[in-house]
Amino acid sequence: MPVLCYQIAARLYPNERSTTGAEDGHLFALLKQDHPHAKAQVYSELVANRLAMFLGLPVAMGVPAKENIGSDELAFASLRAHEADQDFYDFTADDHRAIEPPDNAPDGMFSDVGHVEELLALSQLYPKELSFLAVFDLWIGNEDRPLNFKAELSKGERGILFAVDHGSSLLACRANIDASLELLHKENFPRFHPFQKLVNPMFAGQMIERIASMPDWAIEAATVYNDIVGKVTIADQYALYEVLIQRKRHLAKLVEYLL
Ligand SMILES: Nc1ncnc2c1ncn2[C@@H]1O[C@H](COP(=O)(O)OP(=O)(O)OP(=O)(O)O)[C@@H](O)[C@H]1O
Ligand SMILES: [Mg+2]
Repeated sequence: MPVLCYQIAARLYPNERSTTGAEDGHLFALLKQDHPHAKAQVYSELVANRLAMFLGLPVAMGVPAKENIGSDELAFASLRAHEADQDFYDFTADDHRAIEPPDNAPDGMFSDVGHVEELLALSQLYPKELSFLAVFDLWIGNEDRPLNFKAELSKGERGILFAVDHGSSLLACRANIDASLELLHKENFPRFHPFQKLVNPMFAGQMIERIASMPDWAIEAATVYNDIVGKVTIADQYALYEVLIQRKRHLAKLVEYLL
């Protein structure tokens, strides 16, 4: 898949210490904070992003961000993809066309938020990325994949697909951390996925294998920060680490049942 670029907002001035012409500048980003509906949103975005990077998933990168000196308020800056000279179909937009799945669509295909024909095209063009993302979402308890990805559909297999928004997964799959952990302990959570019936079993198997063989140290490095992150205590962070390891063991069954 081609490189996903991010959008430069401004070039400021040459960096004084640089010997190779580097410039200081700004990138565009979507700044996300913790919210009453997702009290661990920032932490969960950060963890999901780090896990996704380790696993080689097409997810827009994000970084922790702060504004004021001494401020404790942490944001997650989702770096805006450079979309201007690309031809992305916006699966994040509402679809009011009310198009039914065609007769040749697989039974049980997810059609609640529309984009049905584009989803079918997506599964033809990007079977690997689509299957990888679906398995990852089941692992991290992400029921919020509908309307949270974009993809080029006009460039054959040479386009880009990228996912955004993991702020309703992990310790933010419900408003509260405890309720989220409780759900993550359930082997049959999540209950649906927008790519269900569209995944390729071979690629799904590859991602199950990647996750199953992910070393504990890598999961720990993504989940445990030795400091409170927003409202997420170190005990919560370890609890997430433990439940992710537990969920690795049930992942194949969940994939078989749901996808
Ligand atoms: N890195 C990115 N690159 C391009 N577009 C992005 C990026 N991050 C977010 N967006 C756009 O901004 C929208 C809002 O972002 P996001 O989904 O993360 O917010 P949210 O508050 O969690 O929304 P919701 O819960 O309604 O899905 C996305 O639907 C997408 O269109
Ligand atoms: Mg969203």
